[in-house]
Amino acid sequence: MQNKTPVVVVLGTGGTIAGTARSASDNVGYTAAQLGVADLVAAVPALSAFNLEVEQVAQLDSKDMGFGVWRDLALRCAHHLARAEVAGIVITHGTDTLEETAYFLHRVLHANKPVVLTAAMRPATSTQADGPQNLLDSVALALTQGAHGVMVVMAGTVHGAVEVRKVHTYQLDALTSGDSGALARVEEGAVRQLRAWPPTEPVFAADKLASTLPTQESAWPQVHIVSSHAGATALPVKALVAAGVHGLVVSATGNGTLHHAVEAALIEAQAAGVKVLRATRCNDGCIVGISDSPLPAARALNVVKARIESMLQAL
Ligand code: SIN
Repeated sequence: MQNKTPVVVVLGTGGTIAGTARSASDNVGYTAAQLGVADLVAAVPALSAFNLEVEQVAQLDSKDMGFGVWRDLALRCAHHLARAEVAGIVITHGTDTLEETAYFLHRVLHANKPVVLTAAMRPATSTQADGPQNLLDSVALALTQGAHGVMVVMAGTVHGAVEVRKVHTYQLDALTSGDSGALARVEEGAVRQLRAWPPTEPVFAADKLASTLPTQESAWPQVHIVSSHAGATALPVKALVAAGVHGLVVSATGNGTLHHAVEAALIEAQAAGVKVLRATRCNDGCIVGISDSPLPAARALNVVKARIESMLQAL
């Protein structure tokens, strides 16, 4: 007889959630991405109640995340989302670039089911390991009726891909949605929804994903980040333009303002055909109102997400 229990696919990419240390009391001197995703699932007895499929897409410390893994991940997600028996997808990831992968997937997937990224701030060997509970909570969200879109679950809180960002180096509750607030909480396996599930906003048609995302990392648009700060100069912008970049995202002060030297260089770069975006370096809020700057604003996107947006627009 056919198994009708909904499937949750768990895709592994590495991170601290899969990390190991020599000592169970060592929470910082560990190596990320050591255990396979099958081991992570097997270590949580409560997960045996669910119909899970596991797949190792990558095995890395997420500081080293790259376009090749993003492409593989997007294509595996698209494949599994199209399967009628799949209720949702869980992705295990490192916290360091989690917000970037979440935003990338948000902009490339037609996520009509939950795609849930999760992570941990303590390695799997720690006495304080937070990965098992985060994994369990993610599966609960992936199985939630009516939920959809790319989300992140950590420390019992559900964040949207657009808003989520890492704000703490050490605490277990290292992510925030800022002033947008959490989407939901997961409490004892129950999902308590606080606001609407995220919209799906893919840049490309579903059948164009494989042909649009370059197979060669070097073929992805070169978009770099520069910064406006006290004493800033035109030098980084000029060097990057001379190197032939496609786009520049500037980490701007306050409500999107720029040091005059950086602004002049960016206006010149834009006139030469380089795509320029201003994103605020503030932790909260978005660039508000109409400015007289000729340089477009990334509004609510933080600097790293604005860079992904700029890259996707250039494909
Ligand atoms: C990583 O991002 O892969 C390592 C750090 C973490 O997961 O917290």
